Amino acid sequence: MIQLHDKQFVPFISATEIDFAIKKMVAQIEDDFFDETPIFIGVLNGSFMVVSDFLKLYKKPCEVSFIKLASYEGTSSTESVKQLIGLNQDLTGRSVIVIEDIIDTGNTLEELKNLFKQQNVKHFKIATLFFKPEAYKKDIKIDYVGIRIPNKFIVGFGLDYDGLGRNLPEVFQLKE
Ligand code: IMP
Ligand code: MG
Repeated sequence: MIQLHDKQFVPFISATEIDFAIKKMVAQIEDDFFDETPIFIGVLNGSFMVVSDFLKLYKKPCEVSFIKLASYEGTSSTESVKQLIGLNQDLTGRSVIVIEDIIDTGNTLEELKNLFKQQNVKHFKIATLFFKPEAYKKDIKIDYVGIRIPNKFIVGFGLDYDGLGRNLPEVFQLKE
């Protein structure tokens, strides 16, 4: 068990399971984009670790960039999503694959879709390491999912509780 601020967390998803899920996503995306040079867009802060592991495994030509959005305060999603760093790259005709750490309500995803709508991209795909189907409120298709999890608050592997826990190599779940 670990303590972050006022809350306790218990082990939930091992590093081996995470690695397996990322390898599965890499294999699918390599297959789907074998004749292209996709540009992966990581959504900061949470996705830095999944993007790093993902790219080390991705053996085909690709590019990477980051965008910074934020919606969470404490342990619950807020309705408004703030864009903190934007993209300054021309994405016309490119295959864009957004890499998310986790999709919860889908508010962030909807905001991302709107941001990229104005750009004349060739493909716009969404990949997420973790997905909470019970919390998801949108109709937007999620193209690649690593691990589906129950509607529980998790930390580790890039995910934080008010700033703490991002450095944990495994995922912990809020203790009930
Ligand atoms: P959404 O907009 O509600 O889908 O939330 C997406 C963002 O909220 C993610 O990119 C995370 O930064 C954060 N988030 C959602 N669920 C969790 C969680 O269980 N732990 C930590 N952060 C989370
Ligand atoms: Mg995020």
